Amino acid sequence: MTTVSNNSLWRNHVVPFTFLLGLLAAATLAGDYVLHRLNLVWVGRYLGIPGTLLIIGSLVYSLRKRKYITSGNPKTLLTLHEIGTWLGSLMVLIHAGIHFNAILPWLATVAMGINVISGMVGKLLLARSRTHVQGQRDHFQLRGLSKPEVEQAVFWDAVTLDAMTKWRKVHIPIFIVFAVLALGHIISIFLFWGWI
Ligand code: HEM
Repeated sequence: MTTVSNNSLWRNHVVPFTFLLGLLAAATLAGDYVLHRLNLVWVGRYLGIPGTLLIIGSLVYSLRKRKYITSGNPKTLLTLHEIGTWLGSLMVLIHAGIHFNAILPWLATVAMGINVISGMVGKLLLARSRTHVQGQRDHFQLRGLSKPEVEQAVFWDAVTLDAMTKWRKVHIPIFIVFAVLALGHIISIFLFWGWI
C-alpha cells in the first residue's frame, strides 16, 4: 500500500513537477541563446510586455474563484492560469536574461521565480487533495474497512486539504511581493521613457 502510494506520488507529482521546472529553465536558456545567435536581442527587451500581460490575463481564474465574475468554467480557467503564468514567466525570464542593469528588476524576477515554483507546488498539492477527497472516503467505506482504517484515510484527506490551505497562505503573499516589485520596475521604466 505504502509502496503503491509512494510510486504514484513520484509518477503523478514529483516527476511532472521536476519536468515542468526543468523545461522552464531549459526553454529560458534556449530562448536566450537563439536570440543572441540571431542578433535579435531587442526582441528579448520587449518580451517582458507580452509576458506580463499573459500573467495578468491568467489571473482571471482568481476573479472567477472570488466571484468578481460569474461566467467561465473554473477548471478550464485554472488550467489557463497554469499555462498562462508558465508561458508568461518564460517570456519574462528571457527578457530578464538579456540585461543586468539594476537591482529592482532582478528582485522582481526572483520573486516571480519563487511564485512560479510555489504555483507548481500548489498544483501538486491540489491534485492530491482532489484525488483523496473525491475517491478515498467512499471507496474505503464501500470496501467495508474497519472504523480505524476509514479514520486513517479521512485523516490523510484532512492533512492534504490542510496543506492546501497553508500553501495559499504562502502563495498569495509571495504573489503580492512579486506584484509590488514588478510594478516598481514597470513604473521606473515608464519614468525612464518619460511617460510619467
Ligand atoms: C507568475 C506566476 C504566478 C502568479 C503571479 C500566480 C498567482 C496566483 C494567485 C494570486 C493565486 C490565488 C488565486 C486565488 O485564490 O484567488 C494562485 C493560485 C493558484 N496557482 Fe498560481 N500563480 C503563478 C504561477 C502558477 C503556476 C506556474 C502554477 C502551476 C503550474 C500555478 C498554479 C496555481 C494553483 C494550482 C492555484 C490554486 C488554485 C486555488 O487555490 O483555487 N500558479 N496563483
